[in-house]
Amino acid sequence: MAFRIALLQFQPLRKDVEKNIQTIQAHLEGITADLLVLPELSNSGYLYETPQELVPFTEGNDGQGIFLSALINMARQINGIIVAGYAESDKKGHYNSAAAVSAEGVMANYRKTHLFADEKDLFQPGNSGFKTFIYKGLCVGMMICFDWIFPEAARTLALAGAQIIAHPANLVMPYCQAAMITRSIENRVFTITANRIGKEMLGTQTLNFTGESQITAPNGDILYRASKNNPAFHLIEIDADLASDKHISPRNNLFDDRREEFYQ
Ligand code: ACM
Repeated sequence: MAFRIALLQFQPLRKDVEKNIQTIQAHLEGITADLLVLPELSNSGYLYETPQELVPFTEGNDGQGIFLSALINMARQINGIIVAGYAESDKKGHYNSAAAVSAEGVMANYRKTHLFADEKDLFQPGNSGFKTFIYKGLCVGMMICFDWIFPEAARTLALAGAQIIAHPANLVMPYCQAAMITRSIENRVFTITANRIGKEMLGTQTLNFTGESQITAPNGDILYRASKNNPAFHLIEIDADLASDKHISPRNNLFDDRREEFYQ
């Protein structure tokens, strides 16, 4: 089935949710897409000293907050679904989350399972488990950034039926783009890694985000890779059914051939 997928690579600004909304909106004029993926923490930016400092730039997962309600309007405008990373809050604290929103509201919310480095000081470990949702008959799974280094994340989503993995990211290491080719091949899924660009500084810490947002196909082909430093919006049409056949040779099915009894 033909499915129009897109990603946006940009530089989310710290402490400026309004500006980040405007930046996203500015890339979507006249666009229609079935699925658009945005980077991790697209509302808030990345570096904060304390969870308290982050509070004004977080919101609940009900779609009523400033960021997700703006995305719901944009989903209506593009006539599709938007998966975006955002800083979420609830009674227990903050989560580094991804919401899938349609014109009707929030369809699914995923809280990052594997927190990276100092994220552990700001966010609670995600407790949602890996999430998939169905749109136009296709199954889309969500994981966030550092989840890439745990093959179990993509595998869990693929075993749950995901044909496309939406992967908001704020990458600082150079390995993920190569690893996602393997995640695609070993699960025969499409992956959409929407990474951010730019630099953030806090105290003595400087983070350089690596760009090179990427779309991979079930056979490992790189269908698109953005530059390291520039904003990028890219849209392609894929045949999502290619992700339904898990055969890698006539006699090897990646799921049926698993020997779970030896995986403990
Ligand atoms: C990361 O998980 N943001 C590196």
